[in-house]
Amino acid sequence: MEKLLVGRIAIVVGGGQTTGQTTGNGRATAISFAREGATVVVADRHWESAQETVALIHAEGGQAWAVAVDITQEEDIRQMVAAVVERHNRIDVLHNNVGIAASGGDKPIDCITQEAFDLLYAVNLRGMAMTCKHVLAVMDKQESGNIINVASIAGVAMYPNVAYKATKMGVLGLTQHIAMAYAAKGIRANAILPGLIDTPMAIETRVKLTGKPREQIIAERDAQVPLRGHMGTAWDVANAAVFLASDRAAFITGVNLPVDGGALARVGG
Ligand SMILES: NC(=O)c1ccc[n+]([C@@H]2O[C@H](COP(=O)([O-])OP(=O)(O)OC[C@H]3O[C@@H](n4cnc5c(N)ncnc54)[C@H](O)[C@@H]3O)[C@@H](O)[C@H]2O)c1
Repeated sequence: MEKLLVGRIAIVVGGGQTTGQTTGNGRATAISFAREGATVVVADRHWESAQETVALIHAEGGQAWAVAVDITQEEDIRQMVAAVVERHNRIDVLHNNVGIAASGGDKPIDCITQEAFDLLYAVNLRGMAMTCKHVLAVMDKQESGNIINVASIAGVAMYPNVAYKATKMGVLGLTQHIAMAYAAKGIRANAILPGLIDTPMAIETRVKLTGKPREQIIAERDAQVPLRGHMGTAWDVANAAVFLASDRAAFITGVNLPVDGGALARVGG
């Protein structure tokens, strides 16, 4: 089968993962991009975790290298982009996967702290905006490239905590802004809205925070998904990312693509 990203230079920010029994969205996307022929720059605050993703890609014969970046620090982002440009002289795809939720102290509006709100804002929205800013400077000169920002159905659907919801809604605004600002140059920007996905970020974090057994958390989440009553996997998110990153999506920009097993279609009833 034709590979969709041959020769592309792709950065996956948040390409490491939370430790757990399944594969995370960022890691699955990095591996999938490499399988499609891209050279993948795996960027993460946890360099060891990024290195693990790189090792998995190398074990399959793919091309990847790791870079440490904390996206709350603009200087880290500037250095990351400079390192990629020095090595490859271009950036074709930026996949922004970083996002934190309850682990950052998110709560409903009546009890959210200023510190927790600031943290989620800095990681989920400002950090993403800053990676876009610095990568777009490169794509602008090339007059090519595309960006995928990982939001969440939580941005547009019911969700118990305020900062995650508000920042993920913000990601949609950020993405639309970029799509329109760079459309004339042929640079695309799209958002993916994962629904309930069986990843360590979702499961292991809830096990830790609620003390409920893993199987119960999984069963409760499965029950909320219309399509076959099962959560999606990180590979479902990765498949959508491969499509959006590839020329198959050449006429697609500014869209919000749910990968949610029908969750957003379940309105009323
Ligand atoms: N799992 C789900 O059910 C679900 C649902 C909707 C949306 N999402 C979204 O998917 C994305 C995460 O998926 P994942 O499974 O890869 O999560 P993950 O937690 O396994 O991986 C995220 C990576 O981001 C890194 N990171 C965190 N803060 C960072 C920072 N400041 N700078 C650089 N790196 C940082 C972490 O070290 C981690 O390796 C998030 O954007 C999340 O909101 C997940």
